[in-house]
Amino acid sequence: MNLPPRVAALFSPEMRERLTALRRELHRHPELSSQEEETAQRLYEELAALEPAALDRVAGTGVVARIRGRDPGAPVVAIRGDIDALPIQEGTGLPFASERPGIMHACGHDVHAAWTVGAAHLLSKAPGTGDVCIVLQPAEETGRGALAVLASGALDGVSVIFGAHVDRRYPVGQVVADAGPLAAAADTFEIELVGSGGHGARPHECIDPIVGAGALIGAVQTITSRRLGPARAAVVTIGTVHGGTAANIIPDRVKLAGTLRALDPETRQVLQRELRRIAESTAAAYRLKATLTIEPGPPPLVNAPEAVQWARGAAAALLGGGSLVPFAGPNMASEDYAFYLEKIRGCFLRIGAREEGGEPIPAHSPRFYAAEESIFVGAAVLAEAARIASQELRG
Ligand code: NI
Repeated sequence: MNLPPRVAALFSPEMRERLTALRRELHRHPELSSQEEETAQRLYEELAALEPAALDRVAGTGVVARIRGRDPGAPVVAIRGDIDALPIQEGTGLPFASERPGIMHACGHDVHAAWTVGAAHLLSKAPGTGDVCIVLQPAEETGRGALAVLASGALDGVSVIFGAHVDRRYPVGQVVADAGPLAAAADTFEIELVGSGGHGARPHECIDPIVGAGALIGAVQTITSRRLGPARAAVVTIGTVHGGTAANIIPDRVKLAGTLRALDPETRQVLQRELRRIAESTAAAYRLKATLTIEPGPPPLVNAPEAVQWARGAAAALLGGGSLVPFAGPNMASEDYAFYLEKIRGCFLRIGAREEGGEPIPAHSPRFYAAEESIFVGAAVLAEAARIASQELRG
């Protein structure tokens, strides 16, 4: 294993073996969002061995442990790792590939769970100034886990929160810790267009929702191309269209569903408002009735400047100043960690996870996996960021 020397020095051979085995076991037995029963049990046991100050199951299949700091009065810092897998058939060919058909850790949350436990080990062995809450969060992929953890009250009183994602666009040893929006707001919408069905040969006796849907699909493309400035990042995607049962029947309704992505609250509002306006007015133009429902998802992920500085300090101390690289452009994917940052300041990092000679395989691909070294880089950087933050906040 090719670990940066200052990271390697933190882990005994036994700890390396233990965290590697944990990651491989989680990878072999992936569980979908909100169903992470075995995963939670395994992580609970792993943390119990550290004899933390507190250890609880939260948010259904989540686990929170409190690792004691040296000063009980010092501000509390949290480290969050997500633990859920995706409904994808694994195609990595790894020796520890998923044993569950149709489910795999295609987003690296197996590594996130392992590095968060690794950070707990490091902070138990060498405590920081304040207590550190170790948060193993379920259901990131469905965007529900972070809200459930927040609702449990497990993070009440936490001053700063750190978290990270593996990223194969960067080699092991590189880290991104940038200020500003790093992931997009993601809202899901459904539009039902209701007309009046009948014989395909007598359209004049019907109100055809298929023709209206066609016009609507074209019209919503103008939200990003004609309503927002060309330099403003936004996405409107219609992902499903359902309507009709036979070639010679005009159906009475068509259902469309899609996603809205934006990097700032103002753009997010424009997308929602314009979608509603265009859906209703296009429907009216075609004598249809439109019902639009928007289910709000995570907000944009915006790192706090001081938390970014603490995270960068940690990466520079462990990996050298050259390890910090800028983010490869705005990410229109979403990350439910953004919900924490609405309540608690923090920093979300990206941890290089491409092994030497490896390819930059995108997350959510059946071929995706994170290089094993990234477990230790993530654990070390997150633990050190927590240490720096609680020291700085204590003053
Ligand atoms: Ni992910």
